[in-house]
Amino acid sequence: MTTARSPANDPDQIEVHPSGAALGAEIVGVDAACALPSDGVATIRKALMEHSVIVLRDQRLDGEAQVQFTKYFGAPEIHVRATAGSTVPGIFVVSNVEEDGRPIGALGHKAIDYHSDLAFMPKPGTLSALYAVEIPPTGGSTTWCSGYACYDALDESIKGRLVGLRATHRHPHGPNNPPEVIDHPMAISHPETGRKALYVTPTFTRSIVGLPADDGEALLQQLFDHVAQPRFGYSHDWRVGDLVMWDNRCTMHRREPFPPQSRRIMHRTQAYNDWIPTP
Ligand code: OGA
Ligand code: MN
Repeated sequence: MTTARSPANDPDQIEVHPSGAALGAEIVGVDAACALPSDGVATIRKALMEHSVIVLRDQRLDGEAQVQFTKYFGAPEIHVRATAGSTVPGIFVVSNVEEDGRPIGALGHKAIDYHSDLAFMPKPGTLSALYAVEIPPTGGSTTWCSGYACYDALDESIKGRLVGLRATHRHPHGPNNPPEVIDHPMAISHPETGRKALYVTPTFTRSIVGLPADDGEALLQQLFDHVAQPRFGYSHDWRVGDLVMWDNRCTMHRREPFPPQSRRIMHRTQAYNDWIPTP
């Protein structure tokens, strides 16, 4: 529940500690379950725009409070896969746990390769947040990589090749997709920061529009190998109570597998900032 403004959310007390990696910062001094003054929202948003991924530790959030917090950053978005196991509108459960023989959420226990949420939609996801409810003793860490750093580090010749190119995006599970195949520019300009980010992901990006299939595949594989380099990433080892929010326009994320018999329960919310990918 959102309660009266807490001293924890005094904007003067909010600290931003960069991770030291290519992206990511921890924010200290925010209680996400309490009301946030608008200058506090602005401070957090600025950190998110600067670091692309923000980590808030030691939070205590029920579903409603997480939805409330997420709403400070954009319109709530209901995922194409609807509420997957949740009874709170706007909360999407990511979990391998089964109850009465049925999964309580989505995404199981296996590895998930780099992707940007909802890139296969005409208007892809912008901000996503994951809150850790239960964490396995081993595995299940999540790594984000910076689309900016990936783009900046490309050879000038590759940057030149990407000008004007668009790639198709499709979710591997057919029914999640819109009827039409969606394509987006391979490098986008972030509407708030103005920076260029690489926008291709091994999980969703399928082909390059207008290139012979072999050439398209070769270029995509080269880009997938490029983004996989650890120097572009920040890996997060989850603790219960972590709330991590990220900007899908300039990041991709992947997850390590974890033992199927371990329990992992995460609550995801999305904040939509009106966006169509543009070069
Ligand atoms: C997601 C996602 C990864 C994880 O919720 O979009 O990719 O670590 N989750 O659970
Ligand atoms: Mn995801």
